[in-house]
Amino acid sequence: MTALDKTDFLSEKTRQFLAERHHPMLIGGRWVDAASGQKLEVLNPADEALIATVPAGSPADVDAAVKAARSAFETGPWPRFKPAERERLLLRLADLVERDGQTLAEIESIDNGKSAAIAHAVDVSVAASFLRYMAGWATKIEGSTMDVSVPFMPQAEFVAYTRKEPVGVVAAIVAWNFPLLLAAWKLGPALATGCTVVLKPAEQTPLSALYLGRLIEEAGYPAGVVNIVTGDGPGAGAPLTGHPGVNKITFTGSTEVGKLIGKAAMDNMARVTLELGGKSPVIVLEDCDPAMAAAGAANAIYFNQGQVCCAGSRLYAHKKIFDRVVADLAAAANALKIGHGLDAATQIGPLVSREQMDRVCGYIDIGRAQGAEVVAGGGRAGDVGYFVRPTVLTQVEQKMRVVQEEIFGPVVVAMPYDDLDQVAAWANDTPYGLGASCVNPPGCSVR
Ligand code: NAI
Ligand code: MG
Repeated sequence: MTALDKTDFLSEKTRQFLAERHHPMLIGGRWVDAASGQKLEVLNPADEALIATVPAGSPADVDAAVKAARSAFETGPWPRFKPAERERLLLRLADLVERDGQTLAEIESIDNGKSAAIAHAVDVSVAASFLRYMAGWATKIEGSTMDVSVPFMPQAEFVAYTRKEPVGVVAAIVAWNFPLLLAAWKLGPALATGCTVVLKPAEQTPLSALYLGRLIEEAGYPAGVVNIVTGDGPGAGAPLTGHPGVNKITFTGSTEVGKLIGKAAMDNMARVTLELGGKSPVIVLEDCDPAMAAAGAANAIYFNQGQVCCAGSRLYAHKKIFDRVVADLAAAANALKIGHGLDAATQIGPLVSREQMDRVCGYIDIGRAQGAEVVAGGGRAGDVGYFVRPTVLTQVEQKMRVVQEEIFGPVVVAMPYDDLDQVAAWANDTPYGLGASCVNPPGCSVR
């Protein structure tokens, strides 16, 4: 069944939005197509159906968007608004996100594959709370005062003060795993401080950002304060990060692209914030309840189909309880209900794209070829849609690629340890450093 066949389940607003089929991008307060006329196809990962097209942004569109953001910053009212006015508009946007939460969750589900129920409970509600949190900051940004000692004027008294001013035009490039939420995480602080923004959503999942653009318009933001350019990495992302009119780049995505962006930022002396990959360890201590540890470990890796930067993708359990933890984890993996994100019973949706499914299945095969044992899952589920079965790999070693590299799917590698110093060294032994967790026995004072 395709998502569009399931329109009975969808809110009226979602149906209207999807019925438009083509969604232009937002530049300088106008909804426009790419200057080249080129389009990108947007697929539903659950059934591979074409759900929409969006403009394939190119350097000309990026240039128009940066100029619109620059003009809104230099001559528009936004940076000159009273902080309380920016606060009010951010609060209004949060209210609109909440008002259309069901629609945003459904769009996210159809575009990304994730469960609509979870998207509503997590992605949408966290996005709204985050915008409110950032709204509060708008009125609380302050500098400092200093008594300055000037040695060659010992009789004089000097007072210096600092003011925090908006940086300027912010380029925000986001990944596809939490499209709306990542967009909110970028927009909130930039808007609270009076910056203007060019947002580039991931080419796999542009729809919730474009819907958010409508809410930004409805909330009454001045034209050009938020511009949304759709397009892929080489066509739109790279020209945006290399644009000399950008003052700050904020990026969430792969480490590989993050390095390119760091270099582009350096070339233009732009500020940069990167949120990149992870291979986060989960350490289960010797005297833990194995069932509790397995339930936590399953949630740590399988939430959002494992497409989470801080997913618990390496499980280290003490050798005394390793077999029981792994058996319970495998049972939990096998029990998860795989299905369409619009089905309320679904616990594991499809991965975002064929490319990502092939990449994740490729890693499972690499693991097998290097001697790993598949104790749950092990590859694609079904032959339509980008579903991968929740997978547990054992018989792995620290140096293997499946232990070292970010897989970004529902695949966990599990290893026994018998010594805390040893497991701490293993936990630290990857190129990543994003997250880590430790499962303690009940009653332990360290949490
Ligand atoms: P990616 O890093 O290529 O894409 C993320 C964003 O960057 C997208 O908006 C994309 O259009 C843009 N982009 C791509 N190339 C660019 C360039 N040269 N300049 C500027 N922007 C560019 O990630 P991709 O290819 O979708 O996924 C590959 C792998 O990256 C995943 O398998 C996963 O391991 C990792 N990844 C990690 C994420 C995390 O949150 N840790 C998020 C997304 C991907
Ligand atoms: Mg890429």
